[in-house]
Amino acid sequence: MSKNIIFYFSGTGNSLKVAKDIAAAIEDCELISMGKPHKLSGIYQRIGFVYPVYGGGMPCVVERFIKTLDLSTNSNSYIFAVCTSGSGSSDGLTNISKIIGGKGGNLSYAGSIRCFSNYVGLYAMGSDVEKKANAQAQATKQVIKDIQILAVKAPHKNSPLVLFHGPFIKSLAKKDKGFNVSEACNGCAICSKVCPVENIKMLDGKPDFLHHCEQCMACVQWCPKKAINFKNKTQDRGRYHHPNITLGEMINEQNDSCIERSRR
Ligand SMILES: Cc1cc2nc3c(=O)[nH]c(=O)nc-3n(C[C@H](O)[C@H](O)[C@H](O)COP(=O)(O)O)c2cc1C
Ligand code: SF4
Ligand code: SF4
Repeated sequence: MSKNIIFYFSGTGNSLKVAKDIAAAIEDCELISMGKPHKLSGIYQRIGFVYPVYGGGMPCVVERFIKTLDLSTNSNSYIFAVCTSGSGSSDGLTNISKIIGGKGGNLSYAGSIRCFSNYVGLYAMGSDVEKKANAQAQATKQVIKDIQILAVKAPHKNSPLVLFHGPFIKSLAKKDKGFNVSEACNGCAICSKVCPVENIKMLDGKPDFLHHCEQCMACVQWCPKKAINFKNKTQDRGRYHHPNITLGEMINEQNDSCIERSRR
């Protein structure tokens, strides 16, 4: 068993990069996707949650995941949450303290990191990928310093955006009904492998969406043929993933339950 454990959720690699950077900096750390339920099997020094902000709050899958964890055996662990977002918003941290408290843990540290905005279903992808990746790396350094010394930082109070979070997040599961697959699809199944919540099965060589979507945009963003589109909106919007996260990392780390161990 490792000394530290980080749970992450990520569609385009921003949160995975943050999680990997933190894991590499703290001693002896497992990195586990929140796409599937997990049972804690020991006592950890640090337990982390890293995930993107969705609609001024946390993704459904993250909330579901934490609610299935029993943290009571780790009530003395240092628990941290770090959210990534396009705006630098920390709204994704608003409720986590309460949720973790309800599971028998205590949130010690809440951090937020501004990253590239990836919601291609809503807007075109920017051209400042490297600049945003550098800013993300700088901001991650401070968060790492804090987590290394077990710093304490409470989440911000609710922003007014939080009022929209519930209705927004509930509408996402079936939004995959708006996806279409073009003739360019070559049946490679990358979309199915990269989906963090197993919402895509291959049917006759084409992706079929199962309507428990998180709208993480991984399938749209990582398809090598740009064959998946949301309605008629994304055809010309470009595609994005974090420049230092590879497709292999996304797929392997999603599908292995215990993937990264960094020991000094
Ligand atoms: C469905 C969805 C909703 C989002 N909502 C917000 C938001 O409310 N505020 C914000 O700043 N960024 C928002 N974003 C942008 C992501 O939070 C941001 O790009 C994040 O770093 C993506 O992380 P990932 O690469 O690990 O998936 C949203 C992205 C998606 C896909
Ligand atoms: S990733 Fe793209 S090309 Fe590959 S099966 Fe999915 S839609 Fe088709
Ligand atoms: S179907 Fe696409 S957008 Fe929906 S959860 Fe899977 S990868 Fe993300």
